[in-house]
Amino acid sequence: MSSNNAVAFRWGIIGCGKIAQKFADDLMNVPGAVLHAVASRDLAKAQAFARPYDCPHAFGSYQEMVSSGLVDVIYIATPHAQHHENTLLCLEAGIPVLCEKAFAINASMVKEMIQKSQEKQVFLMEAIWTRFHPAIQQIESLIAADTIGKIVHIVADFGFLADYKPEERLFNPALTGGSLMDIGIYPLFISKLLLGKPTEVKAVGVLAPTGVDMNLSVAMAFGSGATASLFSTFAAQTDTTCTIYGTKGKIYIHSRFHETLGFTLQLTGEEPQSIATERLGWGYGYEALDVQRCLAENRVENDKLPLQFSLELMELMDEIRRQIGLTYPQEA
Ligand SMILES: NC(=O)c1ccc[n+]([C@@H]2O[C@H](COP(=O)([O-])OP(=O)(O)OC[C@H]3O[C@@H](n4cnc5c(N)ncnc54)[C@H](OP(=O)(O)O)[C@@H]3O)[C@@H](O)[C@H]2O)c1
Repeated sequence: MSSNNAVAFRWGIIGCGKIAQKFADDLMNVPGAVLHAVASRDLAKAQAFARPYDCPHAFGSYQEMVSSGLVDVIYIATPHAQHHENTLLCLEAGIPVLCEKAFAINASMVKEMIQKSQEKQVFLMEAIWTRFHPAIQQIESLIAADTIGKIVHIVADFGFLADYKPEERLFNPALTGGSLMDIGIYPLFISKLLLGKPTEVKAVGVLAPTGVDMNLSVAMAFGSGATASLFSTFAAQTDTTCTIYGTKGKIYIHSRFHETLGFTLQLTGEEPQSIATERLGWGYGYEALDVQRCLAENRVENDKLPLQFSLELMELMDEIRRQIGLTYPQEA
């Protein structure tokens, strides 16, 4: 991982949960990044989180860290339902934001976040880390070079067997649970990245007793003539792969495709070629480095993952939820 950034960016983290820890691990190896402060709703938790990273500042409230003047950019790692409020808090204070997926609960919240970023002229980006992985960049280049011809169909899945705990993030509607928002977003992301906005969407879902989606299957059609079949579930361990079928061959992204270490390129009538790709650490450093690039270039959004992309992704998730009959308590 290399960088031309001369200055160090002082990162802050909001929400000291599981993903925040992985992000912090990777931030240690990002050139030009320092983990300077963390904030939890519980001071002792923030202090315990900060210690192994030699992070000098720990706060017992998100607001305190935001108003401390100690950070240049904040990574938001709270549940989906909190993203809108946490993002507005940071942007209002003029602090750039990298906010975990799913960006918010629905498109109208995402629009408000984008409006605030534009009004304040402060950087905002959804943390779709896969976008910045070397494998995805190589696959994009191969497709742009017409290596597999015109894309005809994409198949992608993401599933794991989750313990059914109604109060916890995955199944709790108040925390915007459900397979779509948590993991189904990755198959949607890859299809959107490679095929754009669908012209037709058909979704079916099976809901858990809490009312959030347990199993979800989505079929889509695109203006280019391509189609996609996407699947997410909390009820079974699935392959979590992605295959892109083109008129001249196919690309099979190895499991788990959203954090892959490689892919197989098979041109029609030829032997498959297995291609290994880099993924340093957990794979979160690439997005952090690209945020720093954007900040160094005084950008308000990331040119590789524009806010319009995140808005359209959320509009697609709104439509899928409408079709499977899933609304969240905050939308009542
Ligand atoms: N990019 C990825 O690979 C990836 C992987 C997993 C998850 N995620 C995303 O990251 C976000 C967090 O997921 P996670 O697995 O890290 O969740 P988690 O372990 O439950 O952590 C979330 C943290 O948010 C804070 N929080 C604020 N309000 C909360 C509330 N009402 N209920 C519970 N926690 C609250 C808590 O931190 P404090 O107690 O310190 O305030 C909590 O530790 C989600 O948006 C998820 O989709 C991304």
